[in-house]
Amino acid sequence: MQIVVVGSGYVGLVAGACFADLGHDVIVVDNDQKKLAALNRGEVPIHENFLPELLQRHRGARLRFSDDLQGAVRASAAIFVAVGTPPTEQGEADLSYVESVARAIAGAINGYKIVVEKSTVPVYTSDWVSKIILRNGAEHGQFDVASNPEFLREGTAVTDFLYPDRIVVGADTERCASVLREIYAPLVDGTYYLRPDAIPRPDRAQIPPPLIATSAKSAELIKHASNAFLAMKISFINAVASICESVGANVQQVCQGIGADTRIGPRFLNPGIGYGGSCFPKDLLAFRAVARECGYDFRLLDEVIRINEEQRQRFIRKVRSALWTLRGKRLGVLGLAFKGGTDDIRESPAILLVQALLQEGCEICAYDPAAHERAKEALNSSVHFAESAYEAARDADALLVLTEWEEFAALDLKRLHSELKYPIVIDGRNLYHPEIMAANGFTYYSVGRPAVSPDPAASATPVPGVKKSARS
Ligand code: UDX
Ligand code: UDX
Repeated sequence: MQIVVVGSGYVGLVAGACFADLGHDVIVVDNDQKKLAALNRGEVPIHENFLPELLQRHRGARLRFSDDLQGAVRASAAIFVAVGTPPTEQGEADLSYVESVARAIAGAINGYKIVVEKSTVPVYTSDWVSKIILRNGAEHGQFDVASNPEFLREGTAVTDFLYPDRIVVGADTERCASVLREIYAPLVDGTYYLRPDAIPRPDRAQIPPPLIATSAKSAELIKHASNAFLAMKISFINAVASICESVGANVQQVCQGIGADTRIGPRFLNPGIGYGGSCFPKDLLAFRAVARECGYDFRLLDEVIRINEEQRQRFIRKVRSALWTLRGKRLGVLGLAFKGGTDDIRESPAILLVQALLQEGCEICAYDPAAHERAKEALNSSVHFAESAYEAARDADALLVLTEWEEFAALDLKRLHSELKYPIVIDGRNLYHPEIMAANGFTYYSVGRPAVSPDPAASATPVPGVKKSARS
């Protein structure tokens, strides 16, 4: 099928490349000429597993890039809208890009088309998109508007797209639903997975995935409710972690105990420095705003947001309790992206913490495997960027772990110890076992687990807080 994807961001580019991999002819449209030029030159603008392979496979053949939205719409049967929906000052989703795309689509309708919301939008957006298209000259029956939310996590977006837990098709007419079914047929009938060149199957993938058909409004709500529920799970465990800290319990053991209940499940129960990213913070505000507009005061979400913000304050207090005063302290920071596996720093709790620590007068040397370029724009020249985790740790008063990159969990602890001025690690992502850290001579703080100090029997390291003789 000939498909247009409007917007070549984290969502649009992945969706476009994956649709091409399913066998469709795809035009990805963007109004950012620089981005288009880079894509046409063969560059991959975001750090995303398997995306380079897919772009390489389909670029110039089944996948093309263009700034001509109307031309692309005329040539296509389905138009997926994946432009940004940033929050306004009041926390509502700003739908002006969606509206301007809808207006442009209206002027190019030359036969039956489906217009599909891929961006996260509040309930009722499908009604508005319909109205705008009608107002701008299209006629009833020439088009339908559907909601087909994405559940892509950055870093694993390609496998999330091709091996989804479910595909939600929110369409109000059978004609529209059948076009969407046809688009996803290679996944739902399982033929994609038989191909020798299929992107490899991740653990836990359910093959073939179920397709859930709903109304457009239900699909819009499914997206907001899913993200709000996941964020609630994270805030819940962060609150439990705080209680664990107060009573000396271990949140990891608590998680194991509650996660084993199949009604709860173990995933998205990792405590830390709070959720960030381009979706959860924005979508919670938008869901709360749309609920209020519909007459429901969704106070549960206020609390989810409050706990998330409090989590960063708690972490700063932990740094303070480890180092006493902060002014002039040199801190090594591991991780700037909002989570591991991505270069995205939007609403990154790591960046917010670094900014807060700079305000306190700390000197920061940071390392992230992928996010330096973007972080440099956000942090100016106030931070020194290291080339490795070990360089970030060099001569630091303490090392902070702020992003859950897998490579940080596999560091050579002996080397790390020798780089640090004081062997103190404050881990906002619980990447290490406290006993192993203590045995390797670290004073180690994490989230929801008791702090530990070097095990004198297993290591000849100096008392925490006392400068190591080798460096003094
Ligand atoms: C977007 C939405 O912001 C988010 O709500 C939704 O959950 C998923 O889709 P993302 O792909 O991360 O997220 O956005 P972004 O990286 O900002 O990309 C949007 C793209 O749309 C940009 O490349 C921008 O240039 C393009 N765009 C924007 C247009 O082509 N036309 C416009 O009118 C506006
Ligand atoms: C999320 C949703 O998972 C995805 O379905 C949706 O389409 C877009 O938003 P993403 O923002 O890419 O995806 O990242 P996700 O893996 O969900 O993590 C979001 C934030 O929560 C990160 O800051 C992460 O570090 C944090 N997190 C996640 C935790 O603190 N604990 C966890 O257990 C899981």
